Amino acid sequence: MHKLARRVRFSINPFLAEDSTGFNSYCSKPACEGLSVFFELTVELAGAVDSETGFVVNVADIDEAIRQNVVPVFSGHIRRYFREGKHTGLGEIADLLKKSSDKLKGKFAKAKIDKLSLSLNPFRKVAIDFEESRMIYFSEKFDFAATHKLWNEDFTEEQNFKVFGKCANPSGHGHNYVAEVTVKAEPGRLSICEFEKTVDENLIQLVDHKNLNVDVPYFAKIQPTVENLAVFAWERLEGRFENAKLHCVNMQETDKTYCSYYGQKDN
Ligand code: NI
Repeated sequence: MHKLARRVRFSINPFLAEDSTGFNSYCSKPACEGLSVFFELTVELAGAVDSETGFVVNVADIDEAIRQNVVPVFSGHIRRYFREGKHTGLGEIADLLKKSSDKLKGKFAKAKIDKLSLSLNPFRKVAIDFEESRMIYFSEKFDFAATHKLWNEDFTEEQNFKVFGKCANPSGHGHNYVAEVTVKAEPGRLSICEFEKTVDENLIQLVDHKNLNVDVPYFAKIQPTVENLAVFAWERLEGRFENAKLHCVNMQETDKTYCSYYGQKDN
């Protein structure tokens, strides 16, 4: 079993009758002119690799299926709602994703759609849960800057430098962390503003511009590694969201190093 992911980018102008086709799918296809609404839809397909082609599904076929079947779902909605001056909330976004997945059923031979997620901007995304179709996964990225030092008092100085390398520098060093928090919720019941406030008050304010070893009591005896920071974030946030359940914390220390934590059950 392989999982293949493909990102498809497209734009819709709410006020023109149709969108210019475009020639650069890396940017956006349809391309659009002037100010328009940009989407990035990620399709993850699960299936076996075909022995003749080496593909789970030909990515050109994925692009074609999305542009034929999904883009019209979004363009119809955007044009109608914008022209009528109507708001599109998370509930309507979840409906659009559900409709999109229904339209894509059976389009990928034996491969199944495992996940369909929509980026609302580079830092926020919504995915639908295929097992519980009335639920969504909502994710948002937060950043914070912090200092840490990795050092074990039970090790000799030589051992510390051998194990932790440059991270054992006695006066510490900094990272610009990015924490992506994902919750599972009924779309109509999740307030993005409340979600952000909860993460800010219970996590970001505790760690931003702090020396993790000194200013955060949790790390007095625990190494402030990216793994332990993900667990810390989970413990700070679990059970604190209104109308939503924490699903995952992805803690990124650098663009090369990150760790996802799903709680003890690994659900
Ligand atoms: Ni470090």
